[in-house]
Amino acid sequence: MNQEAIASAKERFGALLQQQLGRVERMRKEQDWIDFSTLETIRIGILGGDGIGPAIAIEAERVLKRLLQPEVDSGKVELANIEGLTIERRAEENAAIPAQVLDEIKTFHVTLKGPTTTPRKGDPWPNIESANVALRKELDLFANVRPVRVPGQGIDWRFFRENTEGAYAMGSQGIDITDDLAIDFTVATSQGTERIIRAAFEYAKRAGRTRVTLVTKANVIKTTDGKFLKLGYKIAKEYPGIECDDWYIDIMTAKLVDAKRRTQFQVMVLPNLYGDILTDEAAEFQGGVGTAGSANLGKRYSMFEAIHGSAPRMVKEGRAQYADPSSMIRAASMMLEHLGFKKRAKKLEMALDVCGQYEKKLVMTGRNTGSTGREFCDYLLETMAREDLEQTWKEYQPS
Ligand code: IPM
Ligand code: MG
Repeated sequence: MNQEAIASAKERFGALLQQQLGRVERMRKEQDWIDFSTLETIRIGILGGDGIGPAIAIEAERVLKRLLQPEVDSGKVELANIEGLTIERRAEENAAIPAQVLDEIKTFHVTLKGPTTTPRKGDPWPNIESANVALRKELDLFANVRPVRVPGQGIDWRFFRENTEGAYAMGSQGIDITDDLAIDFTVATSQGTERIIRAAFEYAKRAGRTRVTLVTKANVIKTTDGKFLKLGYKIAKEYPGIECDDWYIDIMTAKLVDAKRRTQFQVMVLPNLYGDILTDEAAEFQGGVGTAGSANLGKRYSMFEAIHGSAPRMVKEGRAQYADPSSMIRAASMMLEHLGFKKRAKKLEMALDVCGQYEKKLVMTGRNTGSTGREFCDYLLETMAREDLEQTWKEYQPS
């Protein structure tokens, strides 16, 4: 009985290894980063998602349209909606991403994505893979970049979460060997590890940051995290002006709460699952996951999204219009930066800080005790147009 179970598990494991080695081959042949300045037209797709997604996506779209008006008019930028990435359609097709939607997504250089529901066991939906995870894999979006800034407290972090490997690479392909034994797998490849660590150091270099912190659990997860750590220090040697250190994920979660130590962290690079967890904690200092945006960067495609879920309960209780769009708008500002519209990205970020963290003329509570997303977005657009925006923003910066 056990022999049979082992033989069948071995066979499945063999197929998984084939898949992963295939990925290594593809990474070996990978092209360099796309250069948007050479494109005649940059195509931006907007995926509303489901739950509160469409309600916040529409506000993010307004902001993008306002900021990219000249390029949209001249044809340099095309903005379009991509329909169908909803839990209903995905359930109907029993696919993380319906094939047609995926094909359409691939016609765009970058996408701005609203949250999408990830079914859990016991939900009325089939147990399909998370659309985020599937998109990251399909489009090879290996760098999940998540900034967290609280200028008033001296917090200015940028997390580089590996986005295609670790515990996620085979997250839906674990094996129930027998009724009593279940096994999951964690993956690290040299190519996958090197490219995320390099992305973190390249950012640090560009942005004048002086420290990159590697976060692992290499004292226990010795093989994969061990590889991450080893390659991290190896790559660090190529960046002499940048200090490199490393922390284990457990003590790192603790140190983020330590007000004296946390301001010393700058750029952090970490495997997928640790990055998932640590960035939710980090976002809490800034006002919660609802305020955090993130970039999923690949060398060819990129996708920008909020880091929170689709909040189906808000929709069920009729509160979708009170959802805070700032997370998705922050993601839009990261998109602008990635596309090379740096000044406009900065302006949008300053306006988000002023409206959401400093001036707070409107408060979002997620219910009718606060403002709607539409009202917040109006406030944001007005703030962005203010002559004294930069001055106001600077007044709040610690000296
Ligand atoms: C995130 C989310 C996803 C993840 C979920 C929805 C699968 O938590 O983007 O951080 O775990 O990556
Ligand atoms: Mg998460």
